[in-house]
Amino acid sequence: MKHITYNDMTHVFTLHTKNSMYQMQVRDYNTLVHLYYGPNIGDTEVSYRIICLDRGFSGNPYEAGADRTFSLDILPQEYSGYGNGDYRINALEVTHEDGSDAVHLIYKSSRMMEGKYSLTGLPCMFGSKDEAETLEITLYDKITNLHVHLLYAVFYDLDVITRAVRLENLGDKKVTIQRAMSMEMDYATSHMDMIHFHGRHMMERQFERQPLHHGVQSVESKRGMSSHQHNPFVILCRKTTTEQHGDCYGYALAYSGNYRCEIELDQMEQTRLVMGIHPYHFAFPLEKGDVFETPEVIMAYSGKGLGRLSHIYHDAYRSNLIRSKYVYAPRPILINNWEATYFNFDEEKLFNIAKEAKELGLDMFVLDDGWFGKRDTDYSGLGDWIVNENKIKGGLPDLVKRIKSLGLKFGIWIEPEMVSEDSDLYREHPDWVLRIPQRDVSRGRHQLNLDVTRKEVRSHVMQQIFAVLDSCDIDYVKWDMNRSVGNVYSAALPSDRQGEVYHRYVLGVYEMMEQLLTRYPNLLFENCSGGGGRFDAGMLYYSPQIWCSDNSDAIDRLKIQYGTSFGYPPSTMGAHVSICPNHQTGRTTPFETRAIVASAGTFGYELDLALLTKEEKEFARKQIADYKKIEHLVQTGDYYRLSSPYKNHDYVLWQFVSKDKKETVVRGVQLRNEANPHIHLIYLEGLEPAAHYKEETSGQVYTGAALMKAGIPLPVGAGDYQPIHFMFRMV
Ligand code: DGJ
Repeated sequence: MKHITYNDMTHVFTLHTKNSMYQMQVRDYNTLVHLYYGPNIGDTEVSYRIICLDRGFSGNPYEAGADRTFSLDILPQEYSGYGNGDYRINALEVTHEDGSDAVHLIYKSSRMMEGKYSLTGLPCMFGSKDEAETLEITLYDKITNLHVHLLYAVFYDLDVITRAVRLENLGDKKVTIQRAMSMEMDYATSHMDMIHFHGRHMMERQFERQPLHHGVQSVESKRGMSSHQHNPFVILCRKTTTEQHGDCYGYALAYSGNYRCEIELDQMEQTRLVMGIHPYHFAFPLEKGDVFETPEVIMAYSGKGLGRLSHIYHDAYRSNLIRSKYVYAPRPILINNWEATYFNFDEEKLFNIAKEAKELGLDMFVLDDGWFGKRDTDYSGLGDWIVNENKIKGGLPDLVKRIKSLGLKFGIWIEPEMVSEDSDLYREHPDWVLRIPQRDVSRGRHQLNLDVTRKEVRSHVMQQIFAVLDSCDIDYVKWDMNRSVGNVYSAALPSDRQGEVYHRYVLGVYEMMEQLLTRYPNLLFENCSGGGGRFDAGMLYYSPQIWCSDNSDAIDRLKIQYGTSFGYPPSTMGAHVSICPNHQTGRTTPFETRAIVASAGTFGYELDLALLTKEEKEFARKQIADYKKIEHLVQTGDYYRLSSPYKNHDYVLWQFVSKDKKETVVRGVQLRNEANPHIHLIYLEGLEPAAHYKEETSGQVYTGAALMKAGIPLPVGAGDYQPIHFMFRMV
């Protein structure tokens, strides 16, 4: 292997990416010890960093005999087991038939393979033999013969290492997994900050940075979805790390269900991070021969600050995670009827919006919620995926044909995981929902979760949806999910297997999505969960774009899109221009500003175009033409956060630079104007210092060095919330 090596004298495994290095070693008593993750320091082995001392109250394994310096409680480990003298958070916890729970993992073997390992039924990065190499290290517990295969894939050029774990019960007795984290990372150091992205419905992925404190800190979801409240992406960085400088490490979980990332700063000032499926309500029995695979963690290291870390994720997701053929393609600029009509529409109203859209130069009409069953409010209809012909007279195929004859594409909204109590599906199969015996159900948006752990439920729903998609020529599907998973109990599983439900729910969703994409390979697929409730790397494996938030207010979106950009490419963020006063905040912002903000993602409109003034329609035409000029930069360019909406209250700015550095667009919003204003200089990034760049509107020519180091003044705005736009091309 070129980038994975094993030294059979020192028993050291070393993994290299272009700019990072990862090292571990098999040491005394076959313990697999973590040595290093950080900048690429060549062939150096760093086992000298481990110094063992006699530590009070940190015991020693039996086989260490009289040696009181060897303690699992202190050693950095690669994947630690519970009940074994390591009192920190552990990666693996099981229970055995006799009620005991200790598991002691020791090294057994390893193998290396070209290309990337794959996981069954779970999303993960893919990589050919030219792109990735795999290392599998097998640990095992001697007493039970439980085998733990640690999977590592090295993407040298991308600067990414992925990890997952495959557990295999090769013993005779049942072992129940209580916690199987996808990875563990033991840092020899403590002086780090943690960056994470918390939030709520309509205010997702808010940036927060705080120093690690002693003890355990965590981010998690117990909602059966990756959640609006906490995104499964965490960064650890040095205290001095900024956008442009310093070490930082990203951990992204490619999973859309309950998860937990725990970070413990221990007594010896060492830091341990584990990430994986949340142990809450999780118990997975493995009978003899059974195998369980964890989701994947995608890890990246940057020595050049947070900006570079984001570029690593953006590039890696676009090239080796998102499978869609649309990943680099210009996406259709869409009009979605949700905020224009909500449930109140008929075919003429829809057609008129579409007609207007065509006249303004949009590419696709998306029919959102309300087209099926008895769906006139959100109290009914989910589960009946049959066109409501009272609303759409003549049926869906007719409407699709009419709209497509305008020269537009057609998209449709679905929410396959849910059912309304007022629906034919629920009346026929009340037992098909998740429901705790003898207890009343809790409702969310007045709907219930279908028990998609069950094959017959999945197949019934998908057959109905397939019938609709087969009946007309549909180009795009938006898959929504509008409540947290609740009432977690499946009538199809025995009482001692209810700990599987949360995970099986996610596997069921992934299987349904896989079927949809296999059957309609040309479909443009957008994920959504009340906006950004499942904005995670798992979902990006299926869909190249995700509706970023139900909040379409341009000013709130500045923070939402800023936070999202740390771990996810802008090209994956659904972003639309909506009406003002904004439906979520009541705020009024200039029409142009709304377009500037939406143009930092997959662009679209979500309003009744017929209600726009003549002037706004002219603006819209121009916005669409302008977006088409920059969309390749949004799809494929490097994204720079030029300012933080948390620190700078005057303006928020971002920049896209083409990979060849020949083009760059700077956009943003001036938040507030002042009398007798300051002149704000802004500094661009990622340009060729010696090259000359001409600004499109003023015609002025600058060197890259001047733009980056001397800066350019922001225009002096008139009023608050003014749009900012500069486009430079190399001359
Ligand atoms: C939540 C989504 O985020 C909205 O865009 C819209 O599709 C509604 N659901 C429809 O119910």
